[in-house]
Amino acid sequence: MQTVLVAGATGYMGRYLVSELHRRGYRVKGLVRSRERAEQRGEFGAPSLLGLVDEWVVADVGNGSEMDGLCDGVDRVVSALGVTRQRADPWDIDFRANLRLLALAERSAVSSFLYVNVMHAHEGTSMLMRSKAAFVESLRRSTVASQVINPSGYFSDASEFVDMARRGFAFGLGEGGHRLNLIHGADLAAFCIDHLGDESGQWDVGGPEVYSYHEIVDLAFAAVGKHARTVRVPVRVVRPTLWVADRLGPRMSSLTRFFLEGLQRDSVGEQTGTHHLAEYFNDLAVIDQDR
Ligand SMILES: NC(=O)c1ccc[n+]([C@@H]2O[C@H](COP(=O)([O-])OP(=O)(O)OC[C@H]3O[C@@H](n4cnc5c(N)ncnc54)[C@H](OP(=O)(O)O)[C@@H]3O)[C@@H](O)[C@H]2O)c1
Repeated sequence: MQTVLVAGATGYMGRYLVSELHRRGYRVKGLVRSRERAEQRGEFGAPSLLGLVDEWVVADVGNGSEMDGLCDGVDRVVSALGVTRQRADPWDIDFRANLRLLALAERSAVSSFLYVNVMHAHEGTSMLMRSKAAFVESLRRSTVASQVINPSGYFSDASEFVDMARRGFAFGLGEGGHRLNLIHGADLAAFCIDHLGDESGQWDVGGPEVYSYHEIVDLAFAAVGKHARTVRVPVRVVRPTLWVADRLGPRMSSLTRFFLEGLQRDSVGEQTGTHHLAEYFNDLAVIDQDR
């Protein structure tokens, strides 16, 4: 039985990755900051890790010394470690902590390192995208075989659209015509584990349906039973917005750049999975009604 270390196991993706590995009979070593939190249900419907993890490592990877020995006895590493809603600097986690993990993986001669990246990371100017692109470059030069998975975006992030629809109006940049195929965590986890033992490579991937931003907003309004009302922000405001955001500090700058750049291009990957965005939105709308 192979042992797979999952870094970022308490995240939206990490929970589905652990669950899929466990289902397929792997022995899972889970790296978490809090076992108590790990054993509770995650955000956006992501599963509890109770009974799915064979070996726990409780550590903060921001503190390198807590990572010693992490890859001992490990056959493969899967990393969904990164900064999304956390307040840390992406350079410290997405780049440096993953790099430390890679050095430990190399030292332990693990068979492979699978990294959950993000689509178009190499083109982004936000600190988040730069940190991810820098790590992918390090991974490419490593002696360890690597699989880099580039998802378009997750259902979890699209939950924002339902919140906007409930408030009665949404914001759109320009015509909102750029297209993307958002993917559910369970579908992405299955795709990742399908590629676990593959030769080194990169895969752009998304869910089964391709929608424009405009259509996603319509789906969110339909889920809450309201007519779509969208405030359209012209594309010409992007540059002044970035100018202001850059002066409000590194976190605001990175988030604004990440968000606005994402709205200005297509993010469509190989279509996979069985989960549908409309159903996810409908479930969210019902859950929120019951609160
Ligand atoms: N969300 C999206 O739409 C999207 C789209 C494409 C790609 N991605 C990328 O996919 C990856 C996973 O995304 P996600 O939505 O699953 O993110 P997430 O829910 O925020 O999960 C990130 C994981 O990293 C862990 N982590 C962060 N800082 C840590 C630290 N100092 N020590 C130990 N663990 C730490 C978090 O632990 P805690 O739970 O303790 O904070 C969590 O387990 C990220 O790299 C993200 O950039 C996301």
